[in-house]
Amino acid sequence: MTASEARRGRFITFEGGEGAGKTTQIRRLAERLSQDGVDVLVTREPGGTPMANAVRALLVSKAAMKSAPMFLEMFDSLGGLAAGETDAAALDAFKSIFLALGAPIDPQAEALLHFAARRDHWGQAIEPMLAKGRWVLCDRFADSTVAYQGAAGGVGDDFVRELGELVLPGVAPDLTLLLDVAPEIGLERARVSRGETSRYEDKDAGYHQAVRRAFLDIAAAEPERVRIIDAAQSEAEVTDAVWSTVAEFAQLTAAQS
Ligand code: TMP
Repeated sequence: MTASEARRGRFITFEGGEGAGKTTQIRRLAERLSQDGVDVLVTREPGGTPMANAVRALLVSKAAMKSAPMFLEMFDSLGGLAAGETDAAALDAFKSIFLALGAPIDPQAEALLHFAARRDHWGQAIEPMLAKGRWVLCDRFADSTVAYQGAAGGVGDDFVRELGELVLPGVAPDLTLLLDVAPEIGLERARVSRGETSRYEDKDAGYHQAVRRAFLDIAAAEPERVRIIDAAQSEAEVTDAVWSTVAEFAQLTAAQS
């Protein structure tokens, strides 16, 4: 390993179905790593850059979808005030964004959008941080597209994996923590903690079971990279399990570098 490779940070992802508790556990892990002197960046997908956050608004946020008609009405009332062709064209452009919220999306296009967001996130945020030696903790990454769009959404495993190889060749997390919980438990938790559901949370039970199965299949195929954590345990127990897995990984990678 060269000196620059030795200085490279570590890329750790969290995966799991809805309400698995990833956000809380990532925050706790980041705090603990920081106390140990590790320089950590916490980020999430879809998101992490302005463009990727826009993809999140389009694909995930039901709050945005619900409010879209109100904003569209506002644009219509502004229409009369448009001072010229340029203003009118801008209003049309903004309107088209709001019209996209909640409109049906072709499943393959949806997978492509997740990868477009991911490519931007990787290139502009994750990779530069890893190159500087920072550790990146990311809430979801490409395994989510395999599970949600590939398996549950019916786009197919091959399509998603080939897409991944095309846009992010050779890119994979150093470690993935799969927070596994039965969808009935996770969805109930998500509803209680957030109140508002997301577009994906609204999918039927079969969809969420397929997501869970797909994540477990990924873990079975790549046991070195993907560690399963029982997320039905208490928050404190999950935190302990996450920490012991990461500590073991850190020792191993320190010994290798
Ligand atoms: P979350 O941040 O609350 O987990 O919300 C992100 C949602 O987006 C979640 O329902 C899973 C979904 N998603 C996909 O369907 N495919 C993807 O590639 C990613 C990153 C997320």
